[in-house]
Amino acid sequence: MKTQVGIIGAGPAGLLLGRILQQHGVDTIIFERRGKDYVLARIRAGVLEQGTVDTLREFGVDERLNREGIPHEEMKLFWAGERHTIPMVGDHGRRLTTYGQNKIVEDLVNLRERDELPLIFDAQVEAITDIENAPVIHFTKNGEQHEIQCDFVVGCDGFHGVARKHIPDAEAHSFVKEFPFSWFGILADAASNSETRGFGHTERGLAVSSSRGPDISRLYLQVDPDFDMGSMTDEQIWDELDLRLSNQYGKTLTRGPIIDKTVARLRAFVCEKLVYGRLALAGDACHIVPPSGAKGLNLAVGDVRLLSEAIIALLKQNNTGLLERYGELALRRIWPTVHWSCLMSEAFHLFPGQSSFDTRRQYETLSHWVHNETGQRWFRESMLGRPFPQY
Ligand code: FAD
Ligand code: PHB
Repeated sequence: MKTQVGIIGAGPAGLLLGRILQQHGVDTIIFERRGKDYVLARIRAGVLEQGTVDTLREFGVDERLNREGIPHEEMKLFWAGERHTIPMVGDHGRRLTTYGQNKIVEDLVNLRERDELPLIFDAQVEAITDIENAPVIHFTKNGEQHEIQCDFVVGCDGFHGVARKHIPDAEAHSFVKEFPFSWFGILADAASNSETRGFGHTERGLAVSSSRGPDISRLYLQVDPDFDMGSMTDEQIWDELDLRLSNQYGKTLTRGPIIDKTVARLRAFVCEKLVYGRLALAGDACHIVPPSGAKGLNLAVGDVRLLSEAIIALLKQNNTGLLERYGELALRRIWPTVHWSCLMSEAFHLFPGQSSFDTRRQYETLSHWVHNETGQRWFRESMLGRPFPQY
């Protein structure tokens, strides 16, 4: 079997890349090591930048997004009994929209299946060979080994994927920071209250309250790195959320059945070598941001836009010029976004051994973002996201 572009990973990066290439008449096959049910059920991101929403619209992935996406005009920050609202509408009406990553993935899978394009679930890519000339993807499905010849391969296979391992010296070009905590995320069938929605800094650690619709709450608690989610009953989870997000403000969260729980380690990571021969990386395969900036999915969309143009130029005009510039241009957005996500993490979390002096400094940062005009503009622009780079 043969294809023009072999895409490893059916997360938002791989699926969107497949959609964009398809609309430019480029054949693709997507390989996904997990089963379809698992991929569709995976609850993760939900805060979309305007550039992400515009991209999904441009490529016709907006039917449900237009109905169910919730645009936001403000963001609340809470700390030490203070509650402040930051207006979040940028120039030309740019704003953030809440729409679950799982819905984007489902929309893209449905469109791909409707168009009868190849998307192979339960297909674990084991290796890529002949990367410099005519790459071959080697994968296993149902215990059998298969090969597919490609003109180009893209690793959209996340942080733990296989593609980055095929880039010589990738490690020497990588930068990593591990944070000493995890995020415990829950999804609940409970009305989300705009009064308590926002980011909270507390002496018990960070808490974030977000939503996925009027009747669905998405909440996060900072927990220890080795936190066992079986160690808290649902009642204890709600009590802890109330302690961090609402009680000190004389409010309570609306409780309801918890329908999903996940724990994620916080890390920041950038691999600066994004291309080798006829293999390129996009999304979490080449960068991870701590979730406090809500930027991972948005970064992945920016990469895919840039990379798709480079692949089209390569395959249709034999022009390698854009591909040569892909890494440099993508990194111009990746590093400032990683930096912002780390700043958000540093301002809101309780670090092991943190002194009261350190806590005062965190208050000072938060105060600057809320009360200082320049600080507030910086916060807003950072949250709204940097423009997607262009060739
Ligand atoms: P992934 O979604 O990780 O997809 C990679 C795919 O590759 C997976 O399906 C995997 O199974 C597959 N794969 C891996 N190896 C192989 C292999 N060898 N063969 C075949 N397939 C393989 N981002 C935001 O922008 N906004 C937010 O609000 C936000 N909140 C978040 C909250 C949490 C709790 C977490 C954990 C993340 C959050 N993120 C957020 C980050 C966002 O979810 C990721 O950045 C996003 O999923 C990246 O997409 P991706 O397609 O690059 O990678
Ligand atoms: C979310 O709604 O899932 C969300 C909100 C804020 C974050 C991260 C994720 O920082």
